[in-house]
Amino acid sequence: MIQSAKAPSNSSNASSNASSNASSNASGSAPPPRPITPLGIAVDHLESAMALLAQVHGVPDELALHLQTALLRMAGLDPYLEQCTTMESAELTELAQKTRHEPWSANYEKGETVEELEQEMLSGHLEGQALKMFVNMTQAHRILDIGMFTGYSALAMAEALPDDGCLVACEIDPYAADFAQKMFERSPHGYKIGIERGPALETLDRLITAKAEFDFAFIDAAKGEYIAYYQKLLDSDLLTPKGYIAVDNTLFQGQVYLPEREQSDTARAIAQFNQYVADDPRTEQVLIPIRDGVTLIRRV
Ligand SMILES: C[S@@+](CC[C@H](N)C(=O)[O-])C[C@H]1O[C@@H](n2cnc3c(N)ncnc32)[C@H](O)[C@@H]1O
Repeated sequence: MIQSAKAPSNSSNASSNASSNASSNASGSAPPPRPITPLGIAVDHLESAMALLAQVHGVPDELALHLQTALLRMAGLDPYLEQCTTMESAELTELAQKTRHEPWSANYEKGETVEELEQEMLSGHLEGQALKMFVNMTQAHRILDIGMFTGYSALAMAEALPDDGCLVACEIDPYAADFAQKMFERSPHGYKIGIERGPALETLDRLITAKAEFDFAFIDAAKGEYIAYYQKLLDSDLLTPKGYIAVDNTLFQGQVYLPEREQSDTARAIAQFNQYVADDPRTEQVLIPIRDGVTLIRRV
């Protein structure tokens, strides 16, 4: 399988949010997030290639120049996007930093989390600001966040909601839910967020029975359940007729467009989801290559 040595081979727990976000991930002694976006992984490989090349005698100058040019263009992109994007709030910076410093592996070993959570799951500054922009553009009042983790996407979107807006956030892991709840209590926008604990599919069924409706949904929980989340939103009235869905990790580390034999199970699940949406005549969609890929979907 062609894959970054540092990238996870198969993240069943929906993780592909490693951020190169300068503000969210600045300071402190926590390890930097692993590169797990297509761009981050490509940069990692190019850096390794450049390091190997430096040990070889007689490398043609032209070859080194081509590699150096590719590396400079790619490695500078994420920092530049961050630089040109509105800064995140102090509360989001704090949430990201606390998430980064949390000993997720030790928590899992101690049985405090259901699955091994990791700092790379956090969406971060660029994607959070994009979500805020989508909420503003769509004038959404009711938002569904499927896969909350420590609450970055939920709080970012809540910041864009009007005062009487509300956001329902689904999370299966009690430790992550408690962590997020504490962070929401520190934000003036936290009161807009209600946490629904448990498996998201069960939560969606309860919300359908309760005739809840949402103008905007962000899908970012179990990758193998993406088609089921999408079906529940579209086969019911959960998503309003003019509602939008944003879906995270739809490029899944750049594996979705590799030959199937080189895809992890998670990447295959995402590739199947992408095809399912592309074939669905009820919707139109666009896959935006921001970070690990975000697909925007609306009913037609
Ligand atoms: C990638 S993280 C979400 C990141 C978050 N949206 C953000 O912006 O930082 C995925 C989360 O989904 C949760 N999750 C995984 N499977 C789930 C399920 N079946 N139901 C609800 N939550 C689930 C995981 O525990 C994890 O916290």
